Amino acid sequence: MKAIVFHRHGSLDEVHYEDFPDPEVGATDILIKVGAVALNGFDPMVLRGIPGLKTPLPMVPGADIAGEIAALGRDVDAKRWQVGDRVTAIPNQPTGMMGETLRGGCADFVAVDQQFVLPIPAAVSFTDAAALPTAYGTALPMIEARGQLRAGEKILILGASGGVGTCCVQLAKAIGCEVIACASSGWKIARLKELGADHIIDTSRQDYVEEVLRLYGKPRTRGESGGVDAIVNYIGGETWAKSFRALKRGGRILTCGATTGYDPKTDLRYIWSFEFTIIGSNGWAPEDQRELLRRVADGRVKPVIHCALPLERFKEAFRQLADREIFGKAVLIP
Ligand SMILES: NC(=O)c1ccc[n+]([C@@H]2O[C@H](COP(=O)([O-])OP(=O)(O)OC[C@H]3O[C@@H](n4cnc5c(N)ncnc54)[C@H](OP(=O)(O)O)[C@@H]3O)[C@@H](O)[C@H]2O)c1
Repeated sequence: MKAIVFHRHGSLDEVHYEDFPDPEVGATDILIKVGAVALNGFDPMVLRGIPGLKTPLPMVPGADIAGEIAALGRDVDAKRWQVGDRVTAIPNQPTGMMGETLRGGCADFVAVDQQFVLPIPAAVSFTDAAALPTAYGTALPMIEARGQLRAGEKILILGASGGVGTCCVQLAKAIGCEVIACASSGWKIARLKELGADHIIDTSRQDYVEEVLRLYGKPRTRGESGGVDAIVNYIGGETWAKSFRALKRGGRILTCGATTGYDPKTDLRYIWSFEFTIIGSNGWAPEDQRELLRRVADGRVKPVIHCALPLERFKEAFRQLADREIFGKAVLIP
């Protein structure tokens, strides 16, 4: 089969579209003919090498796939699964994450144990189903089960233009929150307006703390005035302590990552005197992925697809992702 492969960590020069052995189909595996595979912010990071994460090489990237069953392993439940069924995979498995420590789906075929396969509703396309797992799957529990966002609350979303971010905007709007979305360029601002954000901050020319203070006033340690109720901050780095200045007393900071640095400077004075709650959120459960498929099927969530390129044009998508030129999700079609 053809696959996107890197044999060692490094730059985009290390990734190739090449002939690669077909996946071995174990007794309980389902062989999926990949119809669409979505990239994530972590794909360029894994390619470069993430400190502390041991990626077995050669690696096929791509956590999030959708496609059609091509073959069943000997012991697969044949009453439940049939060749030709439209399916997606749960990439975060007990043994690792596809595209990170388990072989991913940027390939013609991928083999997945039957317990990590989900049916796709007829109304959901391969492209939309592939866009969901990692980014939208992470956003759902972060906003709802962990973040407990409520109607009327104000939420500031940094990096709102990304995969996780575009889902956070949609989920928060559906709850009835007032959404303040940040992005780094004019064309992304226009797209965030279309997505329903109430206020948009162009971080290439505006300071998001100043903008929040202009909208809602300065947070006070006494009373409830000023600032926003919650901030989504998976950017980390210099934004971490800075974003505290936009949060109201009793506010919560939701984080699922650290795009620009995992050991940022903090400011404990803000955490205690404004009584902040810092809420981490990691991954998602299979039920979250099923719930997202249902919401896409009935139109409550609309995956934002920036591009759907042929698999062999992976370099374009990887480069755009690394250069912050994607709004929503980049999808590759084998
Ligand atoms: N814990 C988990 O389970 C989990 C799961 C999925 C993702 N994550 C994490 O969540 C974060 C977002 O993932 P994603 O897939 O949504 O990424 P993405 O699609 O690449 O989006 C990230 C967004 O961050 C913004 N950004 C700000 N500064 C940036 C910088 N220096 N470099 C790159 N982007 C920057 C970009 O928007 P602007 O250019 O408009 O600012 C970009 O759209 C990552 O840190 C990822 O590791 C965690």
